[in-house]
Amino acid sequence: MNYLLQDLTPDRPTPVKPRLSPSLKQKLSIPLKIGDLTLNSRVFQSPLSGVTDLVFRRLVRRYAPDSMLYTEMVSATEIHHLSQLPQVMEIDPQEQPISIQLFDCRPDFMAEAAQKAVAEGAKTIDINMGCPVNKITKKGGGSSLLRQPKVAQAIVETVVNAVQVPVTVKTRLGWDENEISILEFAQGLQDAGAAMLTLHGRTRSQGYTGTANWDWIRRVKEVLSIPVIANGDIFSLEDAINCLEITGADGVMCSRGTLGYPALVGEIDHFLKTGNVLTSMSPEQSLECAKEHLRQLWEYKGQRGIYQSRKHLAWYCKGFAGASTLRDQVSQISTVTEGIELLDRAIADQQVNKVEKREKVSV
Ligand SMILES: Cc1cc2nc3c(=O)[nH]c(=O)nc-3n(C[C@H](O)[C@H](O)[C@H](O)COP(=O)(O)O)c2cc1C
Repeated sequence: MNYLLQDLTPDRPTPVKPRLSPSLKQKLSIPLKIGDLTLNSRVFQSPLSGVTDLVFRRLVRRYAPDSMLYTEMVSATEIHHLSQLPQVMEIDPQEQPISIQLFDCRPDFMAEAAQKAVAEGAKTIDINMGCPVNKITKKGGGSSLLRQPKVAQAIVETVVNAVQVPVTVKTRLGWDENEISILEFAQGLQDAGAAMLTLHGRTRSQGYTGTANWDWIRRVKEVLSIPVIANGDIFSLEDAINCLEITGADGVMCSRGTLGYPALVGEIDHFLKTGNVLTSMSPEQSLECAKEHLRQLWEYKGQRGIYQSRKHLAWYCKGFAGASTLRDQVSQISTVTEGIELLDRAIADQQVNKVEKREKVSV
């Protein structure tokens, strides 16, 4: 009764093939150029502090073989003062193409950090001009650069002169709704030599609240000649396509949509390349992925990895019966064995549920 097996994916919505406009199809048929770097994917995994470490990126890479990945942001001042590079800059040669993201307000420190990042293997240097966190903005980094366009330009110019790889910037619309400065700001960055701009369609004061304003991204795309990557509120393939159509952007960057779902970038990329919709991960596959994430964090970071795994594991727990109880349990684990046992039990429950549903259908 093979058809029964096919029908037994009750938690997965039936994939509906989205339509692409002719102009988007045309754009997708051409590889993306960032300076002299050619990319075979227009879907990016964003830098996420506390998330996009080597372990997470390996999982993303498994589904998205061509997409650009980013490290967590790294402070150029920290790099200047440390005798050894921090673990967040470690790159696996297998995970290319990858960009190292730096933040700071001192052009000289940024140039020095960029050279070290290139020596580590970064294919591009990305400069963070969007982080809204007070600890960063008070020291003149992240989104506070939106209020210091001359410093922002000086950083880009100095870094461009210091390295041979393309230098890109990730930023927001402006400081707050009364100070949306992105049009002039972005043009200044382009004039200073930035090779690509990733734009998160929110202001600094919005943080991660409200909705991302994709219309502003379109306006910026219309005035720049360098590639513009749209970011903000891309949680699904449909979101990615809508965003590309509305903004006319050259690519999309996924962020919170990948938390507990490292296949998102790959699923979007696969559709944009082939026109075929991949079936989403089932709860069982998701829990298996969580298990692997936990094991690798343990191997890579030891006990610190276990504490860090709590939030990741909780993000995987959604969309199935018992998810919220499991979320509470995995949020408190202290050992790898404890986590694996909880996840194994949840996987076994998923298998029992499947069999029960199959039996009901065949009665
Ligand atoms: C936990 C977390 C960490 C983040 N860390 C970074 C970072 O290191 N560098 C950066 O440029 N943006 C960072 N961001 C911002 C995201 O890359 C992205 O711009 C933002 O979440 C908007 O996209 P979304 O609405 O799809 O989540 C972070 C966001 C979150 C939620």
